[in-house]
Amino acid sequence: MSLSHIDLTNPDHFVEGTPHEWLTELRNQDPVHWHQGSTGAAFWCVTKWEDLRYVSRNPMLFSSQRKGTNMPNPRMEELMRQRVESGVANPTMAAMAQQSEEGGGVFPIMLMMDPPRHVAFRRLVQRSFTPRLIEELAPHIRELARTIVDRVIEKGDCEFVTEVAAELPLQVICEMMGVPEEDRQEIFDLSNLMIGFDDPELGESEEQRMMASVGMFTKAMKVAELYRDNPQENLTSHLLHREVDGEKLSEMDYAAFFLLLTVAGNETTRTVTTNGMRLLIENPDQLQQLVDDPSRIPTAVEEILRYEPAVHHFRRTATQDTEIRGRKIKEDDPIVIWYPAANRDEEVFEDPQRFDVARHPNEHLSFGIGEHFCLGANLARLELNAIFEEIIPRLRNPEFSGPVRRLRSNFINGVKEMRVRFDPGKRLSE
Ligand code: HEM
Repeated sequence: MSLSHIDLTNPDHFVEGTPHEWLTELRNQDPVHWHQGSTGAAFWCVTKWEDLRYVSRNPMLFSSQRKGTNMPNPRMEELMRQRVESGVANPTMAAMAQQSEEGGGVFPIMLMMDPPRHVAFRRLVQRSFTPRLIEELAPHIRELARTIVDRVIEKGDCEFVTEVAAELPLQVICEMMGVPEEDRQEIFDLSNLMIGFDDPELGESEEQRMMASVGMFTKAMKVAELYRDNPQENLTSHLLHREVDGEKLSEMDYAAFFLLLTVAGNETTRTVTTNGMRLLIENPDQLQQLVDDPSRIPTAVEEILRYEPAVHHFRRTATQDTEIRGRKIKEDDPIVIWYPAANRDEEVFEDPQRFDVARHPNEHLSFGIGEHFCLGANLARLELNAIFEEIIPRLRNPEFSGPVRRLRSNFINGVKEMRVRFDPGKRLSE
């Protein structure tokens, strides 16, 4: 059994779609596989549902903090080392580089923390994401979704990613954070740069990604100025005024939260919305089921999440010698958990390669599980339901009117451009 033809480190292999054939080979032939990629990165690949759960639920054994949650990247590590050694980095960059050495990421974000620190940081924002609070946003989010579809409906054609899919999560998270309208486009551009670092069309290098983080840091500081002396009912005010372990957040910790919430709240939901629309266009019989009975949309949203998870993978690092499924893992070994692979595990899902909007039960892992279970899952589900409840009955007979252009990334399952044509209709609001 040789799996040496598989290379999950080169983003080129994700441009035509998630390489499900490779993930299936891994899952069936060597579910905890030591993978040596063409970029020089090497790590364990975890591809089964049960194992992804096991790793995610044991944060003290499989750390998010030790080396961060990004796939090992030899080029990035070298760049960081050079920056610090040569003293080229300005004070902010240097601090960020140091954080990176400690936490694997550019900022000390809670995604890359372990308990007990993670628990304390998460508590700070969890209160703003309870199901009850999110449910209170529902009427407003539905209204926004209606306006977004109104803006394109008369034209009968749109660039779906920017005109429809990106708008709702961007407006919602910016409103929740208290980001003024004039700053929202920049937040959108910066977060694109931060996740598009492997795509030459969006950003050319890790350097640019770093610069985007610096840009986001500057933006976070600008927004903080609005609420530091004048707190209001928004997340930024909460971050500035609530305390962790009896202390206010440092500037860096505040900026890290700002960055995590804006990026995580934007890219993922947009990606799922776009892939969902693509799947419905490609499977007209499935779309018809939802047109005939819109009460099935929530079930369909879960299937879209399962079939096309927004995030391909996250990484963990073993904190001691251990085993997964009998494979001997050494302390400090990188472990990469693959969501699209776990979501199509034959032992858990019947006919897993089939897109079935009526699938139930559907225990997909697209929001992760355990310690770092997606903070925004309730919000994302609300947004996805709201937008598809507008799209499905109103954008009738949709079809592609141009090529679907995917993001070159083995991290985000993104789409850059997708032109869609449909029967023109009437606006519903003024
Ligand atoms: C469909 C949309 C989304 C998907 C598929 C998604 C996916 C995920 C996944 C897989 C994780 C787990 C990371 C890990 O285990 O290391 C995560 C964590 C997180 N997500 Fe989401 N997410 C989505 C939307 C959102 C939204 C709208 C927000 C809003 C603010 C958000 C905020 C976060 C945060 C803050 C974390 C880190 C939680 C922690 O470290 O405790 N996500 N997300």
